[in-house]
Formats: sequence, C-alpha cells, structure tokens
Amino acid sequence: MCGIVGYLGPLNAAPVLLSELKCLEYRGYDSAGVAVIENGRLCVMKAAGKLSNLENLLATQHPTAKVGIGHTRWATHGVPNDTNAHPHIDSTGTIAVVHNGIIENFEELKEDLINKGYAFSSDTDSEVIAHLISYELSKGGEMLDVILRSLKQLVGAYALGIVSQEHPDRIYAVNHHYSLSVGLGQDESFLASDSMAVRQYTNRVVRLEQSEIAEITTQGVRLFTFDGTEVKRSPIAMDSSPYVIDKCGHKHFLHKEIHEQPLVLRQTLTKYLRHPNHPIDFSVGDVDPEANDGTAYGVHLTDEEIKGLNHINVFACGTAYHASMVGKILLEELVGIPVAVDIASEIRGRKLLVNESTLAIAVSQSGETADTLAALKEAKSKGAYTMGITNRADSHLAQITPNLIVTECGIEVSVAATKTYVAQLASFYLLAIYLAEKRGTISADKAREMKMQLNSIPTMVEQILAREEEIKETSIKYADAHDVVFIGRGLNFPTALEGALKLKELSYIHASGYAAGELKHGPIAVLDQNVPVITVLMPGTVYEKTLSNAQEARARNAKMIVVAVDGDEQAAKTFDSVLSIPPIDELFSPLTTIVPLQLLSYFISDYLGKDVDQPRNLAKSVTVE
Ligand code: AGP
Repeated sequence: MCGIVGYLGPLNAAPVLLSELKCLEYRGYDSAGVAVIENGRLCVMKAAGKLSNLENLLATQHPTAKVGIGHTRWATHGVPNDTNAHPHIDSTGTIAVVHNGIIENFEELKEDLINKGYAFSSDTDSEVIAHLISYELSKGGEMLDVILRSLKQLVGAYALGIVSQEHPDRIYAVNHHYSLSVGLGQDESFLASDSMAVRQYTNRVVRLEQSEIAEITTQGVRLFTFDGTEVKRSPIAMDSSPYVIDKCGHKHFLHKEIHEQPLVLRQTLTKYLRHPNHPIDFSVGDVDPEANDGTAYGVHLTDEEIKGLNHINVFACGTAYHASMVGKILLEELVGIPVAVDIASEIRGRKLLVNESTLAIAVSQSGETADTLAALKEAKSKGAYTMGITNRADSHLAQITPNLIVTECGIEVSVAATKTYVAQLASFYLLAIYLAEKRGTISADKAREMKMQLNSIPTMVEQILAREEEIKETSIKYADAHDVVFIGRGLNFPTALEGALKLKELSYIHASGYAAGELKHGPIAVLDQNVPVITVLMPGTVYEKTLSNAQEARARNAKMIVVAVDGDEQAAKTFDSVLSIPPIDELFSPLTTIVPLQLLSYFISDYLGKDVDQPRNLAKSVTVE
C-alpha cells in the first residue's frame, strides 16, 4: 500500500523514478508523484490517478535532476487528488517526504505545528512529517540527527523517503515496520519499497531492518538504528533474472493469470513433490542458497516438533483467508489437530491463545500484508512455531519466519488474486499430507493415492479453461444483476466466498457468499427473480443438502446457476445455467470449482467495461492495518 522509490546517480532521475514506480503501481494507483533537486532547487511534480498521468506531466516538464524520490499512493487519509498526492513538502519548500504507512498521532502533531505557525495544505497524515522535520531543523543539528529527533515523535508504522534541497547529494530512507531496500550500482543508488523495482538496474541490495534509517549517496549506504548507532550490513545478491511484465497476447493480465493456473499448480506441486511414491519434501529451497539473498526457505520443523504440535492457528486476509478456510478443513481431516483460522486484522486487541505447541501459519501472496504480519509476530512472541505460505521469497514475511512454503506463481500483476489462490490451496494440500505422514495419521497408501490425485488437478484445470467460451456465454447473461448470492457447503463454502469476492472486486456488482445451510437463517430474504444464486454443488458428503438449499432459493424465483460435474442430471434439471467441470473427488474439488467462477467474474467485468486489472479503490499489497 503506497510505493516509495528513490534514485541518485549520473542518470536523469525522473525516468528512473518512473520506471521504478511502474513496478510498484500494484501498491496503489490513486496518485503518483516525484520530488527532484533540479539546479539546486527542490521541484515537486504530482498527479492524481494512474501513473500514466504523472508520466504525461513529466513529459511536459523534462526535469534533468540527478536525484529524487517518488511515490505511488493508496489513499488512507484524504481523498485521492493532486494536493493529497505525495511527495509532501515543508513550508520552506526545501524538504520533501514520501510516506507509506499511518502516523497515528498526526492530528496532535499537526495541531501543535499549526500553533507554531506551520501551514498545511493537504488532508494527509504524511504532510506532518515534512513540517516536523522542518521544525526540528530550525532548532539546529545535522540532518541525520534532525530526522532521528523527528522520528521519536511519530507514533505508528511507516516507511519514508526524504530529500532536502540543502543536501542534494543524499536521500534519507526510514523503515519502521515495513520493507525498504537500497539498490547499489556503479556510482549510483536506488531506493524502493520492493526490491523487484530496482532489479532492472542492479542485483546488489541492502535491506533495511526494522527501525533503521539509511543515508544513501551515490557511493553507497550507511545504516543507523533509531538511537543513532551505525550498523554494518553487506549487500546481498538478488536473483538477477529479468522481471518480465507481459500480457503475452491476452487482453488482460487477469485472463493470462487465470490461464497460467495449470502451470502454476504443476510448478508448485513438483517443487515439493517429486513423485507420488516419495515423501513431500519441504526442505527444498526456493532460491539458490549461493545467491545469499538473506531469506528463509523450506520448512525446518523436526519430526519431534511436528509430533508435539497440538494446535494450528492460521492468519490471512481476503483471498488468502479463503484458501486458509479450505486449509483448516484439510488439516483437521488429515492431521487431526484442531485448526483455528482468523482474519488477520481481527487478532488485534484480542486474547490470542497460542503456546509452545502451536504452529502459527501466515498466508499471504505478497508477504507484505500488515495485518497478517502483525498476527504472526504476535503468535511468535507468545512462543508459537511459525510458518509462512507466500508467493514472494523476498518478502517481509520471509524475514520473520524460519519456515516458508513458496508458491511458484511468478509475479501476479492483476490486483484480483487468481493463480496465487489455487497455489495457496495446493500448498495446504501438500502441508496436510506432509504433516499427516509425519504424525502417522494417514497410511502410506492413502498418502500415495492423494498425491496422485493432486497431480491430476492441473490437467482438469486445463479442461475447464478449454470451456471458457461456454462460460463466457453463460456469464454475460447475468451481467445486469445488482446482487448475486454464492452458496456452497464444507470445502466449497470458501469457494462461494471467493467467488463472491472475485465478482465484487472485478465488476463492482454486490455479491455475498454464504454457507448454503445458512441461507434459510436470514439471507434468503434478499432473494427474488432479480437475484442470481450461484451454487457450488459437488458430488459427495454434502451434495444432497446443498441441492436442498438451492431448491429453497429456486422456490423464491431466484435465477439459478450451478457449478456441477459433467453428467449431473439432477443439476441440469434444477438450475437455469450449468457451469460444468470434469468429475473430481470432493476432497480436491476447491482446486477446480473456483476456476469457472474466476472466469465468470472476468467476463462480466470485461463486458461491463470495468478496469479488470486495476479495479477501483484497491491495491495489490495492503501494508496498512
Ligand atoms: C484478492 O483478490 C484481493 N485483492 C485481496 O483480498 C488479497 O487477497 C488480500 O489483500 C491479501 O493479500 P495477500 O495475500 O498479499 O496478503
């Protein structure tokens, strides 16, 4: 949420900042801006809306400065407009600040600064930082000390980039509970919230730890703790393979990513499961240890530790939470340990009952979600073993847990998660089988059979994708709906929730997911002939009951759509439209039932002319609590 970049070196800073920001637009696209020091003067250019607006503005200004900072915003305080866009400057116009995070005591600081004569122009919490530094500077001292004195007054979590007209030879960067990386080149340095943004220029990176400040020059970086003590840290070498963003002929990244799911599943499964006759091996690294990139990889719990576990707590948000709900059922079914799944933001202010026999798992595509990280840190502080499931081996999550399962999705560009969802599901299947084998709660034969079934999933997903024209035809019939209800039971209740989330995010149509059996306890009141009800109906333990719940909806004249397996005659008779998928064992069905629902949301969104890859009000990485 919000991306920070910086550059100083021999190149024109503005185009470099822009190219770094392009890699960070997933963090927010409410506005973007840069501050550069041009001929000894601080110069700020910013524009509301997508990064392309800033790009157009810069094309008219042609700045030639060699130093600058930049920002892409997801609004927290103050509407998305030019004034609230970052960078923010102090009253003298000589200090510029870009900020990611929330300053919780900004109102009190602002009032105090206004009383001291400082004039504010924006509604943001961030502007207070620029004025505070200016005020501290007026009291004297070196810039580093001035910033450190200012930081002592800030309450909250934040990452900052700071430039001052008086010091055109340096950028200051601050990390307090976020991620920031400094890229080191030949006589040039880069700053970015996500090291991916500097990879196009250099693979030598220094990551800021928590509560550190960096003084960056063209010759390198000096790091200090918040009490001013210098810290020595060598750069790490990142994977230098180029970071490619390409739609590869697809109309949208979302469509490409939905179609990448068979590959992503194969890659994630084969990484940890070489052959159904072999044990699952989580010790394999996702990065070359030679690359010395400083992140954890693999799972390092001993057999004794696994046998001693008596509880699992899973923390996640959004789509990752839905994957975790499936994970809970799998883990309880196969491993026989009670599992609690929490929306990570709900942990704050609550008594978290974990202990030394608990395994706490954080699930996060980005590995940067503030709520999820906070929950895992709390569990860790109470003595729980920790584990992460993420798509980013270089994320903050990777740094705070020694046990990491990394999904093999490549970068997910579209803000709506699709391929990372199925890869998170695959990770839970692998983890459940792994723990069950270690604890002896499933037989070797059962484990082998399950591994074989898992390996057949990518082909089934391919078969569903091959039916997308039929799915498109059905989807568009329901594109004029204002409310859509999704229902499912058991393993496919999370599918209903995820289906509804995808439709909301992508089409802005109001949609809700319910446990099918809950419909009659209230939600059924919203049904009439204008409300489509999408039922996930898989043969197995809950088939009959789910069908009865769908009948209850049909009796209220709702339009009836179903995700059912090929040849389900009952489904063909009961529902107006059938999204059919190849027959699949109920236990594995969440891996395939979601695919037609992803496509349905995609086709409706595209048909309605929505911004498929960057839906309004959203950001890919949510780094505020
Ligand atoms: C998914 O489509 C969403 N954009 C969102 O719910 C997302 O899953 C959530 O913000 C969690 O993100 P994370 O997996 O990066 O932690």
